[in-house]
Amino acid sequence: MNENTIRILLVDDNPGDIRLVELILTDSDQYAQFFVDKAKSLSETIKLLANNDYDAILLDLKLPDSSGIETVKSVNKISSDTPVIVLTGLNDEQMGLLAIKNGATDYIVKGPLLAELLIRTILYALARKQAAREIRQAMEMKSRFISMVSHELRAPLTAIREGIAIVVDGSAGQINPEQKDFLSLAKRNVERLTRLINDVLDFQKLEIGKMNFNMQPNNINEAISEVHKIMLPFANEKGLTFSLELDKHLPEIQFDRDKIIQVLTNLANNAIKFTEKGGITVTSSQLENTIKVSVCDTGCGIRQENVPKLFCTFEQLTEANKKQAEGTGLGLAISRNIIEEHSGKILAESELGTGSTFYFLLPIDERRHSKRITHNFFHFDAEK
Ligand SMILES: Nc1ncnc2c1ncn2[C@@H]1O[C@H](COP(=O)(O)OP(=O)(O)OP(=O)(O)O)[C@@H](O)[C@H]1O
Ligand SMILES: [Mg+2]
Repeated sequence: MNENTIRILLVDDNPGDIRLVELILTDSDQYAQFFVDKAKSLSETIKLLANNDYDAILLDLKLPDSSGIETVKSVNKISSDTPVIVLTGLNDEQMGLLAIKNGATDYIVKGPLLAELLIRTILYALARKQAAREIRQAMEMKSRFISMVSHELRAPLTAIREGIAIVVDGSAGQINPEQKDFLSLAKRNVERLTRLINDVLDFQKLEIGKMNFNMQPNNINEAISEVHKIMLPFANEKGLTFSLELDKHLPEIQFDRDKIIQVLTNLANNAIKFTEKGGITVTSSQLENTIKVSVCDTGCGIRQENVPKLFCTFEQLTEANKKQAEGTGLGLAISRNIIEEHSGKILAESELGTGSTFYFLLPIDERRHSKRITHNFFHFDAEK
């Protein structure tokens, strides 16, 4: 066996079928060289998979100790990375689809043209696996590169910020008002750059699942009040109101306080940024088995067709164009990731020219522990 030999595990208990497949594979050396191991039952398959690496598994669904879709599930559970090609005598489209949904790579029916079909299916499955591996490696390299560059940029930025702060506040000697204006502008931009870099790092960590969450029983109203305290001066500066309508009887739920404050800050910050008159209201309430927090503004609003784009990365919409330069367009993508890590959901409703409501739902019951909900998790119409 050389390094190009394709190692196949053939799982079948029918001697005639085993011989046929072996014959096809040994006869096909103009395409590739195959080495075939055989298992006649699920238990034998499990043993062989525990001790050997295979490039592909050819699987008959009817074995003495397992049958049907359960066979695919069991094999895929132990060997999720190896392509599983179901090889069956039964031309059953439903079963084929079910097999694919449960992790099989392909479903082929034994028939007169089996030889060519089988070889092609194996080679294609291997090519797809190789392509997927290369994409994964490229994504990992990109992630590492982004994390490394953002991380390295933070230290010099801190030094620049502190240096400017010392000069601006007069600790390093008198400066004239014009110099102070220029340095204050520089300071604001360094702060903005630091925020952008932190956003990129956060997003990167969330994407690759490296963000740690400190889940504790917490009171959502307390987190909202904290954000209100921080953001109220910014609202007032623009002549906007910023009010709270909190349900005092909400139960405590498990969440990471800092992360939820980060989400609320981004929503409040957006609401203030994209509102010129009127104000912002944050509401908390209980909705069935969830806590609902809404941030409602009377700002520029969002065109209906743009609402689905809101939570995508680097998405900044034209209706808010004057304010775009102030952010990266990562805030809502980060917020969505954080809320989903809490098994929650974040949504937006908006009318152009009237205002927007961004709201998130956090589950109250035990299911919050199962990460990343499926979309039918909530029992009510979340769009209401
Ligand atoms: N309350 C809102 N009213 C109108 N448009 C909004 C509102 N919130 C978000 N948007 C639109 O969604 C875009 C994405 O928001 P997001 O918070 O992700 O990014 P950002 O605020 O531009 O930058 P960042 O939050 O990364 O500093 C915004 O640029 C704006 O176009
Ligand atoms: Mg934002």
